[in-house]
Amino acid sequence: MRLVNIDHVAIAVRDLDAALAEYERQYHVRAEYREVIEEQGVEEAMLPIGASNVQLLRPLGPDTPVGRFLAKHGEGLHHIAYAVPSIDDALRHLVAEEVELIDPHPRIGGGGHRIAFVHPRALAGTLVELVELQ
Ligand code: CO
Repeated sequence: MRLVNIDHVAIAVRDLDAALAEYERQYHVRAEYREVIEEQGVEEAMLPIGASNVQLLRPLGPDTPVGRFLAKHGEGLHHIAYAVPSIDDALRHLVAEEVELIDPHPRIGGGGHRIAFVHPRALAGTLVELVELQ
């Protein structure tokens, strides 16, 4: 297991246009792309910041993972994503260590990357996403 870098930090927002406008106004940061990911029930925007990114997540409806997160916690930090060289190797390692996974098998996330989520119960209440480098 080797974490290469922080691929992105994800923030749940209610109004993606408003959040993007504030990132531009306050920090002069603009989205590289916006993408609707129906399977995850989100629209995401990726904002490059140095070698990493901030990802803004807007739920497509209240009955989605991010919709339920917003209802419970309000806007704010949603997950941290680490880049790994091989997601299959990373998942094999975590399974061997009996770490609680949301995705025991990789799926396709934003930008076409292979990703998997690790349950926040596994470590300090933090939802972790692993992103395979391309
Ligand atoms: Co993410």
